[in-house]
Amino acid sequence: MGYVCERCGDLLDVVIGDVEVDGWERFRGREWGVWRYRELLPVDHTRKVSIREGGTPLIPCPKLAEWVGVKELYVKFEGANPTGSFKDRGMTVGVTKALEFGARGVICASTGNTAASLAAYAARAGLRCLVAVPEGAIALGKLLQAIAHGALVVKVQGNFDDALSLVMEAASRLGLYILNSLNPWRLEGQKTLAFELAEELGHDIQVAVPVGNCGNISAIWKGFKELHQLGLLDGLPRMIGIQAEGAPPFAELVKNGGDVLKPVENPETIATAIRIGRPVNWKKALRAVRESEGVVETVSDEEIMDAQKALARLEGIGVEPASAASVAGVKKLSELGEIEKDRRIVCVCTGHLLKDPNPELFHPYMEITVKPELDDLMEKLSHL
Ligand SMILES: Cc1ncc(COP(=O)(O)O)c(C=O)c1O
Repeated sequence: MGYVCERCGDLLDVVIGDVEVDGWERFRGREWGVWRYRELLPVDHTRKVSIREGGTPLIPCPKLAEWVGVKELYVKFEGANPTGSFKDRGMTVGVTKALEFGARGVICASTGNTAASLAAYAARAGLRCLVAVPEGAIALGKLLQAIAHGALVVKVQGNFDDALSLVMEAASRLGLYILNSLNPWRLEGQKTLAFELAEELGHDIQVAVPVGNCGNISAIWKGFKELHQLGLLDGLPRMIGIQAEGAPPFAELVKNGGDVLKPVENPETIATAIRIGRPVNWKKALRAVRESEGVVETVSDEEIMDAQKALARLEGIGVEPASAASVAGVKKLSELGEIEKDRRIVCVCTGHLLKDPNPELFHPYMEITVKPELDDLMEKLSHL
């Protein structure tokens, strides 16, 4: 049930051994979603804890493509998962594994979405659930989800990194199984996003992902590599990681060409989901970016909010701020000439708009108050 290699101290990685997958035909005809690819998931699927996660929409976005300045852009809308974020892909596998290990309860630190997702899957599995969140720093929708699904919410007087340190110390004392992205089984579920993209678009794409704890970008890259090794993909995509300017430890590492991550002590950004200063999966993510000849960029809160508005108003896609970072980053990289504008881009939009119900993000917005009378409505409209 460990997470760390006893010899080198690095996080464990799951290696898929000999699997017999002759071709894509194996999967076709099955329901879309994480478990479509069950041969490539190292868990007993007959005992899965599932709420039908994955199989999210891949949406062509011509107006957004024009806005960011590229030829063809798709949004992979992870907000359409059961609890509204990509975390559900990981939790269905991670919680199934927790039951396989005989865990009595589960625990995580969270900027919000992990807590919401774990609480739901733990409820379904009948496991106790404790979620540690930075006090006053998680979006309202996410907190409500954790509460609704019956988790014990521990508000930590510190940031996400402090909460994760506490969870890592407390888990064994409390007899709880950790389901943060340092858990390699959880990343196995998240890699299925790559399988879906590969099935729909092939390998010749650039995939932009918002980066916080560096788990998702690592998992997606692992998924593509496995398909390539199995002979199901002829080539590999290019990975693009986007961080917030106020929480940029991984971007700084890549840009400086270094090999050791320097933590950011007080990360700050409106995109609370990626407000992380000490990402645990940075080594895996570094491999993803380097092996794919990818790129990492940072974006300001203003750029994130502009992208969130563009997604909502040009394409009808409502995402939370962290998710919009992928689009904001692609726009910036396009302006800097650092992406291939003629090669298809997929922006992974990781969480739903309703997670962070904050109208201030959309300022200025239009709103009027009227009496329930036509004359009053017409009068007020005439002033707009
Ligand atoms: C909406 C959203 N986007 C992106 C991320 C970052 O993913 P990762 O921490 O795996 O890098 C998170 C993580 O909490 C998230 O909730």
